[in-house]
Parts: sequence; structure tokens; C-alpha cells
Amino acid sequence: MKRASPPNFDQNAFKQALSQFATGVTVITTRAASGQLIGITASSFNSVSLNPPLVLWSLATRSASMPVFRANSHYVVNVLASSQLDLCKRFATVKGDRFEGVSHAEGDTGMPVLDGALAWFECHNRSRYEEGDHVIFVGEVERCGVHENAAEMSPLVFQNGLFHGLAPL
Ligand SMILES: Cc1cc2nc3c(=O)[nH]c(=O)nc-3n(C[C@H](O)[C@H](O)[C@H](O)COP(=O)(O)O)c2cc1C
Repeated sequence: MKRASPPNFDQNAFKQALSQFATGVTVITTRAASGQLIGITASSFNSVSLNPPLVLWSLATRSASMPVFRANSHYVVNVLASSQLDLCKRFATVKGDRFEGVSHAEGDTGMPVLDGALAWFECHNRSRYEEGDHVIFVGEVERCGVHENAAEMSPLVFQNGLFHGLAPL
């Protein structure tokens, strides 16, 4: 089999090309063994399988939350609405308690579900794949839900470094 040839682009060119792909934005939440609530903003979420119900997301190896996500069996993928840009920024930047002042409920699996999320997936982690500078988490969805007003809401969309709402063509 032929091997991959080395890239003919630098990291910035790669990032710029990747950033053209519009994604939704999620906050992945969990509870550490100490009881501390942990959350990170992630746009790497995607669906994998309907039967069994599987989803994936990836986390940078250098992420401070990595030890907790590695150790925990459960987490929640919270799909953000466009009205939740503040949460997106908070869970990407704040160094201390990211849950301070953030309203949430406990899901069936005991993990925090953010109020106002457009949809949420309560997952049991099924497998992890170390690839390059990220770890891919594959979660088996045990519970999921959609905001009762989802039909009138817009998702938060991220593309080329900018945040958008969504309007139908
Ligand atoms: C829109 C957006 C999407 C992001 N997506 C990811 C992602 O998919 N994976 C990741 O590891 N970091 C992603 N980040 C960066 C993390 O949110 C940020 O580095 C994280 O909060 C680090 O927290 P920690 O070091 O406390 O774990 C994203 C940030 C933003 C603003």
C-alpha cells in the first residue's frame, strides 16, 4: 500500500481550509469524581451510527479537562442555540469554575444538562482513539432530547472564525 505523502501546506493553511466547513457548536459536560462540574466548547461533534446510537467528538490532548474525560464513563453533548454565544465563549475560555451562574439540570445519567440547549445527548463513552494531537471519543447515546421550542430557535453556527445564526435559503 502507498504511504501518505507529506503535506504541501503549513498549519495555518490547513486551519483556514478546515474553518470553511460550517459546524454547529456544542458544550460537552461531565462531573469529575470530586463532584466538580467540567465543560468544554467543541465543534468537532458529529453523528456516527443510528443502531446502536453513536456520536463522536474530539478533544485536544493538551486540554486541561482531558484527565477527567478520560476517567469518566459519562458525558453530555449540549447543542447550543444561537442565543447561547455567551456559553460558547465561557466554556472555551474561563479558567475557574465554568458552571458558576450557568443554569443546568441533572440528566438521567447524573451529568449536567445545560438549560436552553437546542438538543442534548447523554452518552456512555464506548471507545477512544488517540489520533495526532487529539483524542476521538465515541459515545453511545443513552438519552437524548430536543428543546420544546426548537422549531422557533436557531442553532449557533461557527464558520471561518465567526459565529452566525441560521436562516433558511
Ligand atoms: C467554537 C469553538 C469550537 C471548539 N471546538 C473544540 C473541539 O472540538 N475540541 C477541542 O479540543 N477544543 C475545541 N475548542 C477549544 C476548547 O473549547 C478550549 O480549548 C477548551 O475550553 C479548553 O479547556 P480546558 O483546557 O480547560 O479543557 C473550541 C473552541 C471554540 C470557541
